[in-house]
Amino acid sequence: APAETDYDVVVIGAGPGGYVCAIRAAQLGFKVACVEKRATLGGTCLNVGCIPSKALLHSSENFHAAAHDFAAHGVDIASVKLNLAQMQKRKAGIVEANVKGVEYLFKKNGITWLKGEGKVQGTGRLTVAGKPVTAKHIVIAAGSDSAGLKGVDVDEKVIVTSTGALELSAVPKRLVVIGGGVIGLELGSVWQRLGAEVTVVEFLDRLVPGTDNEVEAAFRKILTKQGLKMKLGHKVTKAEKTAKGVTLTVEASKGGDAQTLEADVVLLAIGRTAASKNLGLEEAGIAVDNRGRVEVDEHFATNVPGVYAIGDVIKGPMLAHKAEEEGVALAEILAGQAGHVNYDAIPGVVYTWPELATVGLTEEQLKEKGVSYKVGKFPFMANGRARALGTTDGFVKVIADATTDRVLGVHILGPGAGELIAECTMAIEFGASSEDIGRVCHAHPTLSEAVKEAALGVNGMSLNI
Ligand code: FAD
Ligand code: NAI
Repeated sequence: APAETDYDVVVIGAGPGGYVCAIRAAQLGFKVACVEKRATLGGTCLNVGCIPSKALLHSSENFHAAAHDFAAHGVDIASVKLNLAQMQKRKAGIVEANVKGVEYLFKKNGITWLKGEGKVQGTGRLTVAGKPVTAKHIVIAAGSDSAGLKGVDVDEKVIVTSTGALELSAVPKRLVVIGGGVIGLELGSVWQRLGAEVTVVEFLDRLVPGTDNEVEAAFRKILTKQGLKMKLGHKVTKAEKTAKGVTLTVEASKGGDAQTLEADVVLLAIGRTAASKNLGLEEAGIAVDNRGRVEVDEHFATNVPGVYAIGDVIKGPMLAHKAEEEGVALAEILAGQAGHVNYDAIPGVVYTWPELATVGLTEEQLKEKGVSYKVGKFPFMANGRARALGTTDGFVKVIADATTDRVLGVHILGPGAGELIAECTMAIEFGASSEDIGRVCHAHPTLSEAVKEAALGVNGMSLNI
């Protein structure tokens, strides 16, 4: 790096990985800038990901509840009408408040926002919108983009990615979702609750790959009962726009006769790919793997000295909180501290209704590793609070080591699963046993008692079942 640099740390990308890294680096005394080409800060997550999707999920849950569940509570309303423009306006307001919040945090922490596209040139050197900038440390936090599919040309109007699916101005009559992963099921649920007939075409014979098999089966059953149509074991080979919408050509994954499927809107959600192009990586000699992900060592260092990478642009789950943890750890490492991410304790949540939350290992993974384990389960049907709320679908599953009783994995399908998983993540982080969770006093009546009961169940000691 040049002897005198403009900044100590320059982060490229202001998503959850980049903006959090910039804040922690500033807190630790570095002079920091963050490069962002988007008109607002916050990255995919705040602008077109986590936040707008959760806003629409909640609004659509309210709409659905008003139309279908209120009467059971003795709340009679004459008629329920959808005001989609207002729903979208509310979502836009939430996004705006969040992205402005990051701008405020940058000011508060003395972080400079360098507007424009950043390109790495080598150790200590980069350009922003073509102008040279120097830094002791360069952090690539460029995130990811929706993966494309041959024969399916996205126009973000009728053939959309998640970005277009968050912006629809009318409820499609028929929505076909390609990919039964997290995005497909969350956004498929939104439009299904608002009145669309939704068909999910999934390549595998199951949903959300990687989920514990037993939990996935229960999850699929609930979503199917809600009216989501599943076309598992199928792939889309072509999507052709017609005067009336889109005609999709669908084949069995194993091969076979082609069928057609008609849609008004198609959502392509078959995964995301690292956004490592247009960063000058090749010219700078920075190595990427066969999926375009920047290669890093255990300290997030690339093969070029002084250049680091975090978040969706490197390997690992593409989750906002994983990117954030890496951002914090890297800033601490750069300051000579012992920054570290425990990849065994990263929760994952699908924000459908009910939610699906998971941390640690599945039964299938434990079998593959040859670890012997015990399982405790508790259904929300037997939880008093869930009954009072009228949300009794699902269960908690705690998996612990057969000899040491150490908690190895927790899988929750049910109301508030995304919040309940925090306690389980802490248990795994602290190396707790299932007995430890079972001996913690949980408030009554709460959904969290289902976690305690499932933990007690590992050793056959559940009280309420
Ligand atoms: P990003 O958030 O992608 O940010 C990267 C930023 O870098 C972007 O703003 C981009 O403009 C900028 N950039 C890239 N290249 C350059 C360059 N050369 N110069 C300047 N700027 C550049 N995760 C969760 O944990 N929970 C959720 O509920 C969730 N929901 C999601 C819903 C949807 C619809 C989508 C699409 C994703 C969701 N995710 C969720 C995933 C989450 O958004 C990502 O894991 C997270 O945003 C990754 O953070 P990041 O900082 O690595 O990258
Ligand atoms: P995903 O990887 O979750 O799911 C993609 C699905 O598409 C898989 O089930 C896969 O088998 C299937 N598929 C792949 N190719 C196919 C084809 N040709 N035809 C049919 N099906 C095919 O990816 P998704 O849903 O696009 O999400 C991208 C990323 O965003 C994920 O890594 C996820 O972690 C993140 N995200 C996280 C959220 C959360 O934490 N709640 C919400 C939304 C996204």
